[in-house]
Order: sequence, then structure tokens, then C-alpha cells
Amino acid sequence: MHEVAKGLVGVIVTETTASMVDGSAGHLTYRGYAIEDLTAHASYEEVAYLLLHQRLPNRRELTEFQEGLAAEMTLEPYFVEVMQRFPKNSHPLTILRTLISITGVYDATANDNSLEAELRKAYRLIAYTPIFTAAWARIRQGLAPIPPDKHLSLAASFLHMHTGVNPTPAEIAALNVYLILMADHSLNPSTFTSRVVASTDSDIYSAITAALGALKGPKHGGANEATMEMFMEIGNPENVSSFFTEQVKGNGRKIMGFGHRVYRTTDPRSVILRHHTEALAKSLGNTHWFDIAAGLENLALADPYFTERRIYANVDYYSSVLLYMLGIEPNLMPLVFAIGRMAGWVTHVLEQRLENRLIHPEALYIGENDRIWVNLEDR
Ligand code: COA
Repeated sequence: MHEVAKGLVGVIVTETTASMVDGSAGHLTYRGYAIEDLTAHASYEEVAYLLLHQRLPNRRELTEFQEGLAAEMTLEPYFVEVMQRFPKNSHPLTILRTLISITGVYDATANDNSLEAELRKAYRLIAYTPIFTAAWARIRQGLAPIPPDKHLSLAASFLHMHTGVNPTPAEIAALNVYLILMADHSLNPSTFTSRVVASTDSDIYSAITAALGALKGPKHGGANEATMEMFMEIGNPENVSSFFTEQVKGNGRKIMGFGHRVYRTTDPRSVILRHHTEALAKSLGNTHWFDIAAGLENLALADPYFTERRIYANVDYYSSVLLYMLGIEPNLMPLVFAIGRMAGWVTHVLEQRLENRLIHPEALYIGENDRIWVNLEDR
């Protein structure tokens, strides 16, 4: 008898040196560095370099990397034209997926899978994603997009393009931490998707377009949006207790941003994010949303239903509040997730290319056999 591993649960399909997730210990590392150290010391650019080039850059290498990203930081007029024609109420991930696909149309080297060409395309994908996200946020409101400032960090540049206002150091630091925490997470569905496409020797734009298609599903990239909507429904810190009693305990509603397939203890990213979300709230002089989130988490942490099932806050829980305080609307949050995860996706495409084996699993056939052909007019 063949065993079917539905959902590929527990099936190891490849090796990676990009990131390591230890779900029982609640530990996440990128290329061997703990996320606690990376978020305390690094910029998103340093982490993207670490993932792509397998080691931390020295100062000269980091400068060259930033220059490489800056060289790709442009918003071509044809992207603005096409965005202006898109229906304004389209799902933002449908928009981003389409724009990344179009990027491949206009890159003459799209089908050159050499390492040199792939690295330049990886830089372009990392540079373009925040530009597309900020431009769409404005264009869908009827506002003109703001061109990227090549002299800013990726986090600062995105915030500036999004609002047109110069972000504060606290806002830049908060987004930098969020992007680092999203940068990679082993073989999650979108990353696996990108590797399947790369394994056919298809081009990197196809691989990332497919990854974005996987991210769009509510089971993957939509949780930060759903979490913020839940906090908005609660509305006020005074309503947290009744929401928990009536909706969660009384009505069986799941707490959005809680629970994880891999982590059976606290998601280490949520611990870091709680700290940074609180710091950002205090720096903005408004702890309203943080108080709702922390109040609900505290009730769940004291409830045996959650502790016995080991259901804790995941990465989306506090990040939804952090992003909302940065002025990002809930349905744009999955795109900001994609800005961070782009470094991981392109890294996995490159890793797949290094030792490629076509990914081609099998299915157990359980349909009928030996059926008798019946002519069309006799059916
Ligand atoms: N709130 C309340 N109860 C929850 C819960 C939550 N967020 N997440 C899981 N549970 C409960 C389930 O109802 C189930 O209870 P049961 O044993 O009485 O049936 C038990 O915990 C196990 O949950 P299960 O759905 O089997 O876990 P999973 O590993 O398949 O699913 C998630 C993980 C993430 C899909 C799930 O926790 C979830 O839906 N969370 C909310 C959405 C979310 O934040 N998703 C983003 C993940 S990064």
C-alpha cells in the first residue's frame, strides 16, 4: 500500500541553507544567524544580501549591493499607464502578481538563467516590489505615484513613496524589522511554488509570479489583513474582554493571527514584533491598537484552551498593528509581506538552480478502471 502524504505534511522534498525553522523550540535562523540578532543589528538590505550571497556583506559589498538595488529603482511610465487602467477594487495581490509578470515581458534577459543574470533580476525584483506596492496604493485612490528616492533605505523609500511624507526614524526602524522577519521561512507554500517553477528551468519572473499566486490565498498571505480587521471589529480596548468571552469562547471564532502549522510554541517573530509594535505605538503617542492586541493576547495566554493546544500569536498578529500604524490599509498588508519575502523567494530560485532536479511528485490513482467506450450518440 502506498501512503499518501496529503498536504505534503512532514515530507522533506529538498535541502536548503537559507533558513531553519525549529517549530518545537520556536527558533528561526537565516544562514545560521538568529532572527533576534538580525533584527537587533541589521538592515533589510544586509539580510537580503546574506540570503542571496550566503554570508554577511562587508561595508564595501553592502554599498555595492545598495547601489545595485538603486540602479533598479525606477518606476517606468508603462507600469503607471497599465496600473491606471486596472480596476481600482482589484485584489492588490492580483495587481502585484500581474506587474511582476509584466516585468518579465520587458526584461530582454528574462530567459538567461546564468547566475550573473539571475542576480541582477533578483535585485530588480527586490527593488520593484516596494515601488509597485506604493504606486498601486496611491493610483487606486486617484493619486499620482511618488518616484523612488535612490538615496533612502528600502524601508524608508517605501514609506516615503506610500505617503509622500518623510518617515520618522522610529517608523523606518519598525518597517525594517518587519521586512527582516518576513524575508524567509523555509519551504512555505509560496516558496515551494517558486522552486517548483524554477525546477522546470523556467524563468525567475514566472517563478515569482507563481509564488505571488500562492501567497494570495487566505490560508497563506491574507492573515495580517484578517487580523487587523478583527482588531477593528473589536474597536476599543474596553471591548476585548466581551469579544473574547462572547465571540471566541462562546461562538467558537478563531483568533486571527493565532496558531501556526509549524510552531507549536511561541512564534519567535511575534515576540520581536510585540516589542517593536509597542515601541512604535509609544513613539507615535497612540497605543490604542496595541492595547487591543496585547489585551486579547493576554486573555488567550491565560486560557487553558489555548495553552493546552499550544496556540500562540503568530507573525501576523502584531505585524498587522505595526503596519496599520505605518498608514498601511489592511488589504495592502499582504503586499508588504511580499516586499519582505521577495529576498527569500529569489534566494530559493537561485538555490534550486544550483542543484536542480525537476520537482515531479506522483499521485495515487483512485479513479475507475476498464471503462467501456460509448459512442457520443449513445450516451
Ligand atoms: N483560534 C482559536 N482556536 C484555534 C486557532 C485560533 N487562531 N487556531 C487553531 N485553533 C484550534 C483549532 O480549532 C483546533 O481545535 P480542535 O483541536 O478542538 O479541533 C486546534 O486549535 C488545532 O488547529 P488546526 O486548525 O488543526 O491547526 P493547523 O495547524 O491545521 O492550522 C492555522 C494552523 C494557522 C491554519 C490555524 O491556527 C488558523 O486558522 N489560525 C488563524 C489564521 C492565521 O492566523 N493564519 C496565519 C498563519 S501564519
